[in-house]
Amino acid sequence: MAKNTKKPWQGRFKGKTNKFVEDFTSSINFDYRLAYYDILGSEAHSRMLNSIGILNNSELKKILSALKKVNKKIMNGDMKHNNSLEDIHMHIEHELIELIGDTAKKIHTGRSRNDQVATDVRMYVRDEILTILDDINELQKTIIKIAEKYSSSIIPGFTHLQVAQPVTFGFIMMAWFFMLERDKERFVMSFPNVNLCPLGSGAMSGSSHKLDRKFVSDFLMFDGITDNALDSVSDRDFIIEFISNSSLLMTHLSRFSEEIIIWNSTMYNFVDLDDQVCTGSSIMPQKKNPDVLELIRGKTGSIYGQLMNILTIMKSQPFAYNRDNQEDKPALFNCGDTIIKCLKAMNICLENLKLNESITKEAAKKGFSTATDFADYLVKKSVPFRDAHEIVGKTVAYAISKKLSLDELTVVEFKSFCKSIESDVYESLKVEGSVNSKKTFGGTSKKEVLRQIKKAKKLINAYEKG
Ligand code: ARG
Repeated sequence: MAKNTKKPWQGRFKGKTNKFVEDFTSSINFDYRLAYYDILGSEAHSRMLNSIGILNNSELKKILSALKKVNKKIMNGDMKHNNSLEDIHMHIEHELIELIGDTAKKIHTGRSRNDQVATDVRMYVRDEILTILDDINELQKTIIKIAEKYSSSIIPGFTHLQVAQPVTFGFIMMAWFFMLERDKERFVMSFPNVNLCPLGSGAMSGSSHKLDRKFVSDFLMFDGITDNALDSVSDRDFIIEFISNSSLLMTHLSRFSEEIIIWNSTMYNFVDLDDQVCTGSSIMPQKKNPDVLELIRGKTGSIYGQLMNILTIMKSQPFAYNRDNQEDKPALFNCGDTIIKCLKAMNICLENLKLNESITKEAAKKGFSTATDFADYLVKKSVPFRDAHEIVGKTVAYAISKKLSLDELTVVEFKSFCKSIESDVYESLKVEGSVNSKKTFGGTSKKEVLRQIKKAKKLINAYEKG
């Protein structure tokens, strides 16, 4: 590890780098993760240098075969990290020089680590987005399955965490589907901003060699090339966008976790989580805790933290590249890793989620959840809505004083609040009646939930077809 290797930039220096400074400035212990992209970028750059006559065919052949060997060595975990070689870019260059000597020294022609790292990171983010999109898609498919299974299962809907109106479990699941669909859309929309190739921007102002940037961009499958070298090497807004989109996704996953944790609590008992996603207590033998969901909720903090981290890294940087940017990688890697794990964890929790249907239906009857339907019933009997609201409010207060639910009142009792009430009122007080009386687009009726599921399946199909 401590071997002091000759640095590519050593020429200008007389003195040695302080050992502590060497360790302080090194990024190899995290940016080794960019190796694959760095090698790919070097291949593209070398091929391009050959196409414009800077490398001859035999030099290119040597470089390409050496790059293959270095790649294999790194993938096998055989490349030693050395802080005196700073970062992954210098490690790879060093390995190439060890293998093919002077030919390798030509590879950095027209290239700076500034445009090199910007290219690597863009390729990394691009792949992370594609993985995350697939993982969201898988989670959405699980959600659709649950929504179909429980499309007419009644559960109370809440506002202010007080029972509000009866809904179906399928309806709630589809709400999560559409939230995740917007998360997916945000990542999709950010993709074109990431997928532009900065290589060829040099240190900050371009190159005096006639580099074929389009060649490199096509080889690396970018959509096109960036327009301004200064911007290309200095901004990390595409990482900010990635972590910002991840933060919103985590907000949704955290809320979803919280919801299930509440449903799963002993007091509610609305859902059962499978044993495989719960853990026990070291002292209380009866406990089965929803730790996976709590961790998803907890890990949201680190993603929000990384958003503040990357925003702050960028906020005061003068043009162009500054070493501050090296700190973008821990933020980015932590964010991507966490998001991917949380999406998987949520999927496993949902795959085996069981709804306790009789409990949720009973709970939906509590708290006068059909009071709005009762008011709507009065409106249909030509009572103005504001008067209906008042009549229902007084009836509810009366029922509370008698410790009865609304459907336990007699028609005579009802009539004491409003003469228009007949025995058909009981139909409007039933939870199923309430759910299926909803006629609006987007509502909780079974017909509407089935429409939402149909649309969701279309969206999934469209995504999977690309
Ligand atoms: N390790 C650096 C980073 O991650 C690479 C670029 C360094 N450039 C430089 N001029 N020191 O940003």
